Amino acid sequence: MKCKVCKAPAVVSLRAHHAGFCADCFLKFFSRQVERGIEGQKLFTRDDRVLVALSGGKDSLALMLELSRQGYNVTGLHIDLAIPESSAAARAVVEAFCTKHNLPLMIKNMADEGMPIPLVKARLNRPICSACGKIKRYWFNKTALDYGFTALATGHNLDDEVARLFSNTIRWDTAYLSDQGPLLEGEHGFARKVKPLWRLTEFETANYAFLMGINHHVAPCPYSGGASFTIHKRLWQQLEAAMPGKKLDFYQSFLARGRPVFARREAEEGVSLAPCQNCGYPTSSGDTCGVCRMKTMLR
Ligand code: AMP
Ligand code: FES
Ligand code: ZN
Repeated sequence: MKCKVCKAPAVVSLRAHHAGFCADCFLKFFSRQVERGIEGQKLFTRDDRVLVALSGGKDSLALMLELSRQGYNVTGLHIDLAIPESSAAARAVVEAFCTKHNLPLMIKNMADEGMPIPLVKARLNRPICSACGKIKRYWFNKTALDYGFTALATGHNLDDEVARLFSNTIRWDTAYLSDQGPLLEGEHGFARKVKPLWRLTEFETANYAFLMGINHHVAPCPYSGGASFTIHKRLWQQLEAAMPGKKLDFYQSFLARGRPVFARREAEEGVSLAPCQNCGYPTSSGDTCGVCRMKTMLR
């Protein structure tokens, strides 16, 4: 196969785009998709201060590198979950990456905040993953607001987004369907949240990371045991193989025609949020937020 652009031998083949690319042309294609993802959905501009959540995985590191190459004002944020072995390894990868590329990095250590994940897991009577997700989102938001960042970016890719959309759809979870997407405007104590890799698949991000020589953390979280997302992702791989381009089409059509309908409906229902009485984070409980309740329980 030859590169669609320059006719050199192709190293990456993308069926959804009916194209093969050589390394240089693939990297340009990747940059262009990120650019289209940002500009098409008006995620942020070069005047914004963007805090990029870095897990150590290939997606968030690829995102950070590409945004810095495109001249955006980026700072990394790593949440050290204090999970034996896995957290130290992930953190070391993030630190080495930021040092290598001379990029600013902030670290929030959950052990210092009194909520190391193993302790939360030991005290909690339900699966740790959702609590851990809640804790991470809380610190992403708090750090972005406390330090005056105007956007918080995560490395979610098209496969993550489509799997989540599919999961929300088969449950007809109208609340989640009303605000799923690459942009969540900042409001009522929430930072503006963006997912600039929404047009790119996991395969494309993996190729970018490989071609750019990004050394990433690969070990899965020791507490995650086959989440249902994996099943949804597998189903979508089959659908995409039979109908190349369906993933992006499904997601884009949802953004254009599905989400606005759910958003209108949710606005009519008017769920009210008030600041947590302890930390100010928005909550619908009318009292303290989920993370403050967790902290109290841990004490
Ligand atoms: P995941 O839910 O693990 O697939 O992660 C989705 C995104 O959340 C990643 O691409 C990162 O941007 C962010 N993220 C996950 N874990 C962490 C972490 N420990 N520290 C900072 N960002 C994270
Ligand atoms: Fe949070 Fe595994 S990363 S429970
Ligand atoms: Zn709180």
